[in-house]
Amino acid sequence: MATRLGTDLSSIPMKTESGKEMIRVGVIGYGYWGPNIVRNFHSQEQSKVVAVCDQSAASQRRAHQANPSVRVMGDSKDLLTATDIDVVAVVTPVWTHYELAKTALENGKHVFVEKPFTCTTAQAEELIELAERNRLKIMVDHTFLFTGAVTRMRQLIDDGILGDLYYYDSTRVNLGLFQHDVNVIWDLAPHDLSIMDYLIKEKPEAVVATGERHLNGVADVAFITLYYPNNMIGHINVNWLSPVKVRTTLIGGEKKMLVWNDLEADEKLKIYDKGVQMSSGEGMYQLLVSYRSGDMWSPKVEQVEALKAEAAYFIDCILNNKSPFNDGAAGLHVVKMLEAADESLKQKGKIIQL
Ligand SMILES: NC(=O)c1ccc[n+]([C@@H]2O[C@H](COP(=O)([O-])OP(=O)(O)OC[C@H]3O[C@@H](n4cnc5c(N)ncnc54)[C@H](O)[C@@H]3O)[C@@H](O)[C@H]2O)c1
Repeated sequence: MATRLGTDLSSIPMKTESGKEMIRVGVIGYGYWGPNIVRNFHSQEQSKVVAVCDQSAASQRRAHQANPSVRVMGDSKDLLTATDIDVVAVVTPVWTHYELAKTALENGKHVFVEKPFTCTTAQAEELIELAERNRLKIMVDHTFLFTGAVTRMRQLIDDGILGDLYYYDSTRVNLGLFQHDVNVIWDLAPHDLSIMDYLIKEKPEAVVATGERHLNGVADVAFITLYYPNNMIGHINVNWLSPVKVRTTLIGGEKKMLVWNDLEADEKLKIYDKGVQMSSGEGMYQLLVSYRSGDMWSPKVEQVEALKAEAAYFIDCILNNKSPFNDGAAGLHVVKMLEAADESLKQKGKIIQL
């Protein structure tokens, strides 16, 4: 909106009632996940959603009904070039992330982009470089990293409570939701891979994946194995064809073992003082195995809405010029592992070095 003096008033930063800077967010994609993003950026003290874009008329109607004060549009170009938007949230299918994020960065917007970051590592690298060049921030929505359970597990591992890790074994299975543009690895495994990257200090060296397609031409059942230094091994079971929903992770440590059942309302985490010790007996070849079976306890897990905490963190990173830990580089590493897993799956479990 140009004024008589030629100043575009919409490009002037907005202030909150108490005079603090207000970050203005535009959200592209108002399907299943988009409404959560709108709600959480809109409810922050220092951010508000000023525009929502979805190409579907039905989604536009829903967006308008739920957010009458917000501009709703159908063409992403209008949102990406709007001068009154500081951050663009990309909440559309993965194959659209790269183009939308790129145009947002080219137009001087910070980018909040859904998982998985992009379809290829080359796209992710290009976006990271573009953001750096334009001094803009990218945050990839790895929502689980902001849950009370993952935060607490990170603390327990960092404090050495579990000791050296032996394995990380996650089961993330349910019936559907079938996706048409990505297979079950790209749909569900980004959660586990981002959590593993966050919890485990070392990075995996190689990946093996097997899986099969049964219904719509993309793999709907997959098993991924990640090889880490020091004999640490990771395993992820993702499946859209399971009769029951399971969200259970086992972490085996030298000192303690942990079970995370994300479907439990209380006591999501349980720590078992269980383990095995090997020592040599009297004879040269005699091996003594002793099993430790001690107490179980359930550490307290903060009840937080992960997306709310994540949105607050991104706004804080922008206002205080900090790099988010779930930045483009973190998103890129997850894409690298997804690409390698896909390659291995295509070659029926060939080992792929990372
Ligand atoms: N972080 C999480 O836990 C989590 C959970 C669910 C989905 N997601 C991610 O969110 C993204 C969206 O998933 P979803 O389940 O909401 O998908 P969806 O299909 O339900 O919604 C996507 C919406 O984007 C719109 N859209 C697509 N291309 C567009 C374009 N170019 N311009 C404007 N609108 C466009 C579609 O009309 C649709 O309404 C995916 O990347 C998915 O992986 C993340």
